[in-house]
This record gives sequence, structure tokens and C-alpha cells, in this order.
Amino acid sequence: MATSAPNPRTWIERLAALKKALADNAKAVSVVLDKLLKPGTGPEARVVEAMRYTTLGGGKRIRPFLVTASADLFNVNPASALRVAAAVEMVHCYSLIHDDLPAMDDDELRRGKPTCHVKFDEATAILAGDALLTKAFEVLSEDDTHADSKVRSELTLALAKAAGETGMVGGQMLDLFAEDHDLKMPEITRLQRMKAGALIAVSCEAGAILGKASENARHVLHAYAHDVGLAFQIADDLLDVEGNEKEVGKKTGKDAAAGKATFVSLLGPERAHEQAEVLADQAASHLEIFGEKSRLLQELAHYVVNRRA
Ligand code: IPE
Ligand code: IPE
Ligand code: MG
Ligand code: MG
Ligand code: MG
Repeated sequence: MATSAPNPRTWIERLAALKKALADNAKAVSVVLDKLLKPGTGPEARVVEAMRYTTLGGGKRIRPFLVTASADLFNVNPASALRVAAAVEMVHCYSLIHDDLPAMDDDELRRGKPTCHVKFDEATAILAGDALLTKAFEVLSEDDTHADSKVRSELTLALAKAAGETGMVGGQMLDLFAEDHDLKMPEITRLQRMKAGALIAVSCEAGAILGKASENARHVLHAYAHDVGLAFQIADDLLDVEGNEKEVGKKTGKDAAAGKATFVSLLGPERAHEQAEVLADQAASHLEIFGEKSRLLQELAHYVVNRRA
């Protein structure tokens, strides 16, 4: 037996491969975002500058990765997948700009840099968020995104539902409500699924829509995204308690200061970690039917809960 042969599947090698895939995808998405958000002219150029400042200024690009990795399962044209990935990232960046505003979390640091309203001003930040949201739908509606108009309209519908009052915006409303109401576990779970889970779920769903995947494949991806989304938010809440502000790139200790119940405040950090790990295992196991093709997505589930930023 060739015991001395290097094993290409050690966890260190697998992690390195995932990190490289994430970095490559982040770079490719940034190239597309850069092209889609052309610097403006005239006094209105300021809003484009703010849009570019936020979208091209870092971030883990987890949602875009979920779009392209899910699309890869169905051999989707990478250029199509990248446009959809860029659209989802625009919606995510809009949500971050508005989340950081004084009327919401009042944060001054995001991705290790001044938040959009600090760098520009509140009104510009609101407009940049608005314009990123609408730009995302402009991108989805254009022919370059997919030749089949039915696919484009399915993508549009799915992203609209995930972003609006039944998804992210609804979750943000519940998050504000949580500041002065004593939410219990089922309510917190619902809040987190809407606030962070919906955009994560639509990222995976978009890959399936682009690939005209079977009902069963969509169902499996949905189950994966459901678990990853919750695990992701538990990790975000844990980082708020345990994270290092420099590494995380945003202020920590905010949830407790705002009196917000989270998984961590309800379960305690240890059980919250355990719960996130259980969800990551469960998420990965859903994808086993796709075999080796889904390896990166399976590993991402674990990466999401063990991240330090
Ligand atoms: C932060 O999302 C906002 C939440 C939904 C918790 P990310 O942790 O994905 O932020 P970036 O994009 O990497 O900055
Ligand atoms: C915000 O959640 C989620 C969004 C919809 C933007 P948080 O308020 O927990 O996100 P961070 O911690 O500021 O990134
Ligand atoms: Mg918030
Ligand atoms: Mg916040
Ligand atoms: Mg948070």
C-alpha cells in the first residue's frame, strides 16, 4: 500500500482549496460588479461612487459563491452565473448600507472601513442602497443574464421575495422589534431565517433556476441553504460576542448592548457553537446525492460556522 503517497484530501488541503475557490470567485464577481457599476458623470456621480465604495470594498462574497457553486452543479454558463452572483451581492450590500445607518444599527465600521454613511453622508447612503437594490433587478432582467426570458423572470421573482417583507426586510423589522421584546427560540429562528437566511437561500436557488434543475434537485439545495443560512447567522451572532473587531471588520458586542436576544444569548456560546456545527453537518449531508461535484458547497457549510470574520 502506498502509505507514503500524499493524501490530497487532508482537511488542510480541502480548506486551502475552498479558500482559493472563494478568493477566485470573489475576484471574478468584483470584475463583473466593476463593469456593471460604471463611474458616473455630473453631480449624480456621487451616488455611483458610494455604490462602488460598498460593493467593491471587500466582504467574504459568500452569497455570490453560493450562486456560482450551485450553478456549477448544473453546468450553467459561468458568465450568466456571475451576473446573478453580482446582482445578489448588490442586494446584500444595499442591506448592509441601510443596516449600518444611524436609524438602524448606527455602525461606523464595515468590512474594516468606514460605513457608507460615514464615508459619504446619510442621504447618499440611503440613495446608494436604493440604487443597488434596483440595479440588481435591472441586471437580472437583461438578456445577457440568460437567453430564456422565463428564467430571467423566475430569478427576478425569487430575489424579490427573498429581499422584501417576506424575507430580508421582514427579518430586519423583526430584528428591531427584538430590541424591546423578549423573543423566544422559535421567534428568533424565524427572525434569523428571514434576516440572513432568505438571501442565502435565494443564492442557491438561483443556481438551480439558471440550470433549470429538477424539482428534486431544487428541494435538496433548498434544504442545504436552509441549514447553512441558520448556521451562518449563529456564527454572526457568536462573532458579535467572541470576535475580534479587527478581524471581523465591524464593531462587536452590539447585540448585547442593544438588548437583542440571539441564539447566543438564549443558548449560551457553547450550545450555540454545537448547534451551528450540527446544522453544518446536516447541510453538507443533504448534498451527498450530487457527489464530488458538491464538495466545495459541502465544505462551505463548515467554513461558514468556523469563520473568524
Ligand atoms: C453580514 O453578512 C450581514 C449578515 C447577514 C449577518 P456577511 O458576514 O456575509 O458580510 P460580508 O459580505 O462578508 O461583509
Ligand atoms: C444584518 O444583521 C443583516 C442584514 C440584513 C444586513 P446584523 O445587524 O446582525 O449584521 P451585522 O452584524 O451588522 O453585519
Ligand atoms: Mg442589524
Ligand atoms: Mg448590523
Ligand atoms: Mg450581527
